[in-house]
Amino acid sequence: MKRLVVAIDGPAGAGKSTVAQLAAKKLGYTYIDTGAMYRAVAWKVLQQQEVTDERILEVIRDIDVDLHYAEGRTTVTVDGEDVSAAIRTPEVSAVVSRVAALGPVRTKMVDLQRKMAKRGAVLMDGRDIATNVLPHADVKIFLTASIEERARRRWKEMKEKGYDIALETLKKDIAARDKADSEREISPLVQADDAVLLDTTGLSIDEVVARILNLCQ
Ligand code: C5P
Repeated sequence: MKRLVVAIDGPAGAGKSTVAQLAAKKLGYTYIDTGAMYRAVAWKVLQQQEVTDERILEVIRDIDVDLHYAEGRTTVTVDGEDVSAAIRTPEVSAVVSRVAALGPVRTKMVDLQRKMAKRGAVLMDGRDIATNVLPHADVKIFLTASIEERARRRWKEMKEKGYDIALETLKKDIAARDKADSEREISPLVQADDAVLLDTTGLSIDEVVARILNLCQ
């Protein structure tokens, strides 16, 4: 079978990484979580107190971000340090869209992402994969769900990690991130003309994975 390139885009909390990882496992493909790469840059920016554009540009100049996917798990490193858990905090979520809006940050990350996808047999998720990173992807999916459902899923996920954040707060954070990602100048979040819309509201994880695998066949 052809080593497909699969692009999955969508707003925050749509469950992209959960279903993409499962689908990648079934296909025997490599999963590439591009959001984790922007989070890694944001994490490094946050190591110093003030978040300014100058600081972000300074960080991007010599940061070494690496993604390693093995046995269904993604390890993210920044300058050799494992930050896989550290990039999932509310603090990182709060600044990541600002970091990801800057041109030099996107240029460096997109370059890395294209190199990672070169050999095919990859499933990449993010915001601009089908529209910008891999416009010739074999399969393009735009995954979404209602904001209520996305906030509920994120709430459950955070609770399991020990964070007790009000549902309303999460809803507001997600809406703010969607707005920033959709309205930014460079490669905003938008459904590609040739992407299949998959609304996962009310669908189980297994149902969504089955639909993705169907589209790949
Ligand atoms: O996917 P995740 O929610 O972890 O992504 C974190 C943030 O990284 C997004 O809100 C967005 O600002 C940025 N991002 C991006 N382009 C991508 C993937 C993520 O701008 N391809």
